[in-house]
Amino acid sequence: MALLAAAALSINAHAAPERVGDFTLIDDTGKAHQLSKYAFNKAVVIVSQASGCSMNQENIARYKQLRTNWDHRGVSFLMLNSSVDDERADIRAEEAVWNYDFPIMDDDAQLVANALGVTQAGQVVVVDPVRMNILYRGPMPGQWARAPLGQTLEAIVADGADSRQMDTVTVDMEEAEGCALDFPVADQYVAEAPDYETEIAPILIERCVGCHVEGGIGPFAMNSHMMIQGWSPMIREVIMTNRMPPMQVDPAVKSFKNSGNIPTEERQKLIHWINAGSPRD
Ligand code: HEC
Repeated sequence: MALLAAAALSINAHAAPERVGDFTLIDDTGKAHQLSKYAFNKAVVIVSQASGCSMNQENIARYKQLRTNWDHRGVSFLMLNSSVDDERADIRAEEAVWNYDFPIMDDDAQLVANALGVTQAGQVVVVDPVRMNILYRGPMPGQWARAPLGQTLEAIVADGADSRQMDTVTVDMEEAEGCALDFPVADQYVAEAPDYETEIAPILIERCVGCHVEGGIGPFAMNSHMMIQGWSPMIREVIMTNRMPPMQVDPAVKSFKNSGNIPTEERQKLIHWINAGSPRD
């Protein structure tokens, strides 16, 4: 009976769309963007960008036209720079020359690119900022109205649209449509997850345990691997949204001695470790 029911369900069940966790990134002007704060919109279009990527440069007019067509229908537009070659200053320099005129989020840890499944500059991702579902990942088509990108936007802005009933539409990038990005850190940690005892625990001890200790002001004590593993989804969220450690300031703007900033390499270690299932060894 149980087997029969399961089989029937898998036939009828709708393949749920891919999801993305909330995140906060700072753009080229120093402004923070948190995905969930875009929840007053029906969709957010995120264009992956890299300095010197000719496919980005050649598509500027198309990006702007897409925005003109959709921003009055509840769609917001952001760019995402996940290139290991670009510092904040490089992003600003590229913007000064090319005038993209979109906020360009600085994904220096590349963690948002990983979360969105972005592998190339030029890739376009459509996200529902309310349900955090990924609805489209693919190229910027020349004639988007008839292409899957336009169809996806049309579907999500429609009255009563529910992204849980939609699929993630993935369109492969042709070589001429994007600029390949390197992910050296992700590659390293996917091959071998960071080690709990020598790499993860020392970060938590230095950055978190001061408050997250028995009787401390943090709401739970990080006193065992089990505890940290159990809290891992929440830990990922507070790291991705810059909520913990508290008191973070944009290091590109100012550096305070007591700011809670956590170095990029440490954030990458924590998130890749959690993505690997928070293993003990
Ligand atoms: C200065 C003290 C302090 C430090 C350092 C600190 N936390 Fe916290 N943390 C808190 C407090 C207070 C709360 C509860 C209030 C809140 O959510 O802001 C909290 C809440 C949390 C939560 C639960 C969030 C929720 O929404 O329930 C997580 C997860 C967390 N911290 C992880 C971390 C991690 C990971 C670090 C280290 C990278 C860290 N914290 C460092 C004080 C701290």
